[in-house]
Amino acid sequence: MHLSELNERFGVAGAVAFEQGPGGFARAVLTGAGGRAAVLLYGAHAMEFQPDGHRPVLWVSRRSWLEAGKPIRGGVPVCWPWFGGKGPVAGSPLHGFARLAEWTVESAARLPDGRATITLVLRSEAVRVPQAAAWWPHAFELRYTVTAGSDLTLTLSTRNTGNDPFTITQALHTYFAVSDVRSVRVHGLEGAEYIDTVGPETLRRQGPEPVAVRAEIDNVYRGHTGECVLEDAPWGRRIRVAKSGSRSTVVWNPWIEKAARMPDFGDDEWPHMLCIETANAGPDDAVTIPPAGGHDIQTHITVEPM
Ligand code: BG6
Repeated sequence: MHLSELNERFGVAGAVAFEQGPGGFARAVLTGAGGRAAVLLYGAHAMEFQPDGHRPVLWVSRRSWLEAGKPIRGGVPVCWPWFGGKGPVAGSPLHGFARLAEWTVESAARLPDGRATITLVLRSEAVRVPQAAAWWPHAFELRYTVTAGSDLTLTLSTRNTGNDPFTITQALHTYFAVSDVRSVRVHGLEGAEYIDTVGPETLRRQGPEPVAVRAEIDNVYRGHTGECVLEDAPWGRRIRVAKSGSRSTVVWNPWIEKAARMPDFGDDEWPHMLCIETANAGPDDAVTIPPAGGHDIQTHITVEPM
């Protein structure tokens, strides 16, 4: 659908507008009471969120691919129907195909409380990603609702529209902008068990202290349903990440060498981001959905001055 048609059908004066975004992808700009956000139809990829009076909350690499068929580095990749490299077929892409697909707009509105909201849809029969049906031959309907004001709520709903149960892993892979990753702390994971996936996978337990990043980190906290608070003292802010429908939390920063190995990540950018991902990572926290059943995963992001 062209931008003019999108604006005609779904635009909401002062709240939801469609325009050409980075890479030429169509994006919806949500202007809610207290803040704004932007989401691309490509991948249903949230790229920006900024509450009024605060710095941008999401980080996007200046080296990101912005091409159909390639993942975007930053913002909030929607990882689905699998999280990580453990796709069902060798050669299937890291973090699934939902982030590589073109989604369609179902509705947009200004809510009575002044927040702006949009719902995007992806149905199995409309996925144009080559090989997707071979990688994952199931009938599904995905809905992604992005609601922005002074806070940001992201809800991914999976429905099984086929005749057999299927199992998914997934993540709302939020890349947060930070002053310097070495100066921030993540509270809320104290005492939680995690798989350290840097090097050979090792089961560990977080101590009583908040998470501090001093090297490459790729921790998958299992059975974690609570909220995290990203405390950024130099920037004087706390980002609160609350969630539901999620039993895993992933904390990721590539640090120096891994950043240098990634072509879509600037060598000097690693200090400026930290991922805290609302996930269901496999195999322990995978979700099985029966025919006609559904599952919702949600993340809710608020920013507070410190
Ligand atoms: C994290 C994973 O969730 O995503 C990392 O735990 C991975 O292992 C990272 O490198 C980024 O993934 P991608 O596909 O965007 O490079």
